[in-house]
Amino acid sequence: MFDRELFKGRTVVITGAGRGIGLATAEAFLAHGAMVIAHAGRSLPKEGPLAEAERQGRARLIAADFLSHNGVDLFANTVQAETDHIDVLINNAGTMQGRFPAEGLTPQQYESVVRLNQTSVVELTTALLPLLKQAKEAAIVNTVSISARTGGSPGSSLYSASKAFISTWSRALARELAPDGIRVNCVSPGTIDTDFHQRYSSAEKLEATRKSIPLQRLGTAEDCAPSYLFLAAASLSGYITGQVLEVNGGQLMA
Ligand SMILES: NC(=O)c1ccc[n+]([C@@H]2O[C@H](COP(=O)([O-])OP(=O)(O)OC[C@H]3O[C@@H](n4cnc5c(N)ncnc54)[C@H](OP(=O)(O)O)[C@@H]3O)[C@@H](O)[C@H]2O)c1
Repeated sequence: MFDRELFKGRTVVITGAGRGIGLATAEAFLAHGAMVIAHAGRSLPKEGPLAEAERQGRARLIAADFLSHNGVDLFANTVQAETDHIDVLINNAGTMQGRFPAEGLTPQQYESVVRLNQTSVVELTTALLPLLKQAKEAAIVNTVSISARTGGSPGSSLYSASKAFISTWSRALARELAPDGIRVNCVSPGTIDTDFHQRYSSAEKLEATRKSIPLQRLGTAEDCAPSYLFLAAASLSGYITGQVLEVNGGQLMA
């Protein structure tokens, strides 16, 4: 993909790395020399490159439910105990949690979607900022979504809006943290064939979406991973901050 030593000596923290886009991205950072501190929600991978790297001391896997009381704090505290600096923070954990129509929306549904996709990202970034400031050319990359711009599909209004919040917040943060040498960007996946859609989209809906995509296929987690590496590496994207990189096969062009 890139130079195999691109992240040699660099410490990368990535959330939602137990599967899907986060897992593929964590594995790509490992393959390019990084020390990876990987978070998973409820499922830690027990096999594969990440688990193997942990046995070799090149990765650390930590589980934390960001919807549980103190889940973000517990993860942040563990990271703080593991390292004295962070070169790259990838905020990727998130999901729709269900389709919640506007009519009949409950306060619990609202709180849960916003807490996972929005509040936990702000809380974790805030907690880890002192460690990012200890690195020379730190980068934050946040996972947002094509739905932040399109509004998403029925039942995803809060999820889509929470991703739009992260897009805008990232731009503001990029300006605020630039004097510290910290760049902040986002990767915005389109329709990526992960467990996410197995849970929230029917086969018919996915096929209709596939046909509407100019490149005529759904994306894969591996399609997304290189964008995170690109935006994380100062040698490749050192003059890019406050941007959203859309990875969607042409599904959205504007
Ligand atoms: N797939 C798509 O088409 C698509 C499109 C746009 C944006 N995205 C975004 O891309 C990111 C990754 O999604 P994906 O497609 O890879 O989906 P995924 O396979 O469902 O992965 C979601 C990740 O978030 C973690 N997570 C979920 N609930 C959590 C909780 N309560 N506490 C902590 N972590 C939690 C999951 O951990 P556990 O499963 O271990 O709990 C998992 O690692 C998400 O932010 C998603 O919103 C995906």
